[in-house]
Amino acid sequence: MSVTKPLPHDAARLHVTGEARYVDDIPTPKGTLHLAFGLSSAAAGTLKSMDLADVQAAPGVVAVMTAADLPFANDVSPSIHDEPLLATDKVHYVGQPLFLVAATSHLAARKAARLGKVQISETKPILDIEDALAQNSRFEDGPRIYGRGDVEAAIASAPHQISGQLVVGGQEHFYLEGQAALALPQEGGDMVVMSSTQHPTEIQHKVAEALGQPMHSVRVETRRMGGGFGGKESQGNALAVACAVVARETGRPCRMRYDRDDDMIITGKRHDFRIDYSVGFDDKGAIQGIDFTHYTRCGWAQDLSLPVADRAMLHADNAYYLPAVRITSHRLKTNMQSATAFRGFGGPQGMLGVERVMDHIAMHLGWDPLRVRKNNLYNTKASTGQQNRNTTPYGQKVEDFILPEMIDELVATSDYEKRRAAVAVWNSENLVLKRGIALTPVKFGISFTLTHLNQAGALVHVYQDGSIHLNHGGTEMGQGLFQKVAQVAAARFGVDVGQVKITATDTGKVPNTSATAASSGSDLNGMAVKAACDTIRSRMADLLTERHQCDRTDVIFKNGQVEVVDATYTFEEVAQMAYFARISLSATGFYKTPKLQWDRIKGKGRPFFYFAYGVAVTEVVIDTLTGENRILRADILHDVGASLNPGLDIGQIEGGYVQGSGWLTTEELVWDERGKLRTHAPSTYKIPACSDRPEIFNVALWDDQNREETIYRSKAVGEPPLMLGISAYAALCDAVQACGGHYADLQTPATAEAVFAAIQRARG
Ligand code: MTE
Ligand code: MOS
Repeated sequence: MSVTKPLPHDAARLHVTGEARYVDDIPTPKGTLHLAFGLSSAAAGTLKSMDLADVQAAPGVVAVMTAADLPFANDVSPSIHDEPLLATDKVHYVGQPLFLVAATSHLAARKAARLGKVQISETKPILDIEDALAQNSRFEDGPRIYGRGDVEAAIASAPHQISGQLVVGGQEHFYLEGQAALALPQEGGDMVVMSSTQHPTEIQHKVAEALGQPMHSVRVETRRMGGGFGGKESQGNALAVACAVVARETGRPCRMRYDRDDDMIITGKRHDFRIDYSVGFDDKGAIQGIDFTHYTRCGWAQDLSLPVADRAMLHADNAYYLPAVRITSHRLKTNMQSATAFRGFGGPQGMLGVERVMDHIAMHLGWDPLRVRKNNLYNTKASTGQQNRNTTPYGQKVEDFILPEMIDELVATSDYEKRRAAVAVWNSENLVLKRGIALTPVKFGISFTLTHLNQAGALVHVYQDGSIHLNHGGTEMGQGLFQKVAQVAAARFGVDVGQVKITATDTGKVPNTSATAASSGSDLNGMAVKAACDTIRSRMADLLTERHQCDRTDVIFKNGQVEVVDATYTFEEVAQMAYFARISLSATGFYKTPKLQWDRIKGKGRPFFYFAYGVAVTEVVIDTLTGENRILRADILHDVGASLNPGLDIGQIEGGYVQGSGWLTTEELVWDERGKLRTHAPSTYKIPACSDRPEIFNVALWDDQNREETIYRSKAVGEPPLMLGISAYAALCDAVQACGGHYADLQTPATAEAVFAAIQRARG
């Protein structure tokens, strides 16, 4: 059967040969215009005047537009309509688009966009958490609070108390393909848009609004993205809308792509956080009561910040039972890029808080942090007389908690105990280079927390020759979704995947789709495609049962053939028979995730269909003279249920780990005192390179089925492994701790400077 096979990514060959077509590679008709934005150089203030005469007169310029020239909606927000495409009166961040240039070439447009003479009467921007709190600059009226129990009493009555603060850095998506769009005007005001987006339906919706047209007159197509990582859930809206509006005005095709610096300056990133905590625990390090406060810098517009901040709260427990708990979340509005979705969607930030607490407790007790972690895990298998410790702070029961077994297995396969002893010996013998090792677990909730988004549709055609055309609402961003779903279709018809044509996501084929996000792509679209295939398969089977006077169960689709009691046909023959019998060989499929029920205001219910689990052990070395550091080895055991494709899944796990460890180590975003992002190119922003991956990198899949009924009992894999990177940060904390007797207090990102500073503090 085609599912469970480690087939390569369907476009792997095209990716490596450079043949894969991204939006900006699509050939366009002569006369296509290229767009660029003129950007704000102030972080806050009022737009006084814009003199765009020089822009207009620049070589190659065909059109220049400001907010006043937009015919209909001036809004690219995915949430509360607070995000104009072009600034109107107020300016909110350095990099905000103010005007639009269309020219005959990409370079001409970019050069002209620099020639605007813009006057802004500047005000003091709100940049840091303190300022935002002091000025009550926030989304929602006040902080959101989730929790249970009497937290103060639980902390006060515990044998030990500690408190602390953790700075959690943001992160640039650094998709290799930048944001891009192409709009092709059609007759009668219709528009076709090619967009590098995780969310074609959103692009369709925003373009339709901007053109004053119903959604049916806009068709959006996305074949693939060169990476999205959450950064293309909403950030592509501006380019698509700009292209569509200019295409409508000029009647010419329009394309736009951000150059790397512009991309980093204009678009939102991962939310950075400050997390304050105070915790009370017993002599075993088991938490009795814990109080978290999340301060989230959301940037200037709401975008997806509320669900991101919610998810951070929902992962504040990670894998641990918190008897009395309060999580307070401040969603602060600041004069910066509007922070957006990024792999994990707030989960990583929330999880890092409690992992830091585990390390802090261990340092306080002088223990191996693993012991503290184990003593705090959820427990679903209490012996008689004992209470299960299996309810999350939001009331969902953890039913399939496999982490204790997974941890035991990884401790064994990674040789954790022996290596921990070896690290201690090394550290006692070496003055300059210190080592550290850590194990951290991941428990990640799968489903969109906005319940209605958990739906998907598919469209499948079987042609007379037995070849299959596959379409669904999911988008391909490198994660391998298209191949996995094609494997599902092939398995339903019992044919080779080569017989299934993977096609571009298209709002004209499957409507009203959700973003490909929340790791739910294969869960949702796999099920929708299965439903569509099964409809066609049943029609074929009905025909055969009638002809051969047998039961449905006698009809078997496998190995490219269809077997009935007394005959065997090729799949192609059955397709032809069905065609001649005038049976429809086309079907839609639909799926909605069951069991969900969630009240985000109260913070109670079942937001997740199930959890995905993982464990990582990382060993690092630091240079105490410079703070420089390296990951020496990483061992991972990750749960993908019954894998649809172990090759692609391992790729997701490796990539997720590297991206997560990059987030917590070298990737640092720096804004200056005027709110300008200083780190807007690879020269100043350091993502992990191939040479930064661990020298020894062992990734294994936990071999078990999803207990919930998902597509072939698999589990989502896109986001959870990112959080395995937390073990790299914990290992660095361990190494720093080896430098002195004081609490290390390593903040993130743990750059060389941060590690160096923490060493000084540890040496006190
Ligand atoms: N993997 C690659 N190669 N490129 C990406 O952009 N995005 C991640 C993850 N893995 C991403 C990736 C994010 S943020 C999500 S939500 C999931 O893939 C989305 O795809 P899925 O739902 O099909 O797993
Ligand atoms: Mo992923 S952050 O849910 O696009």
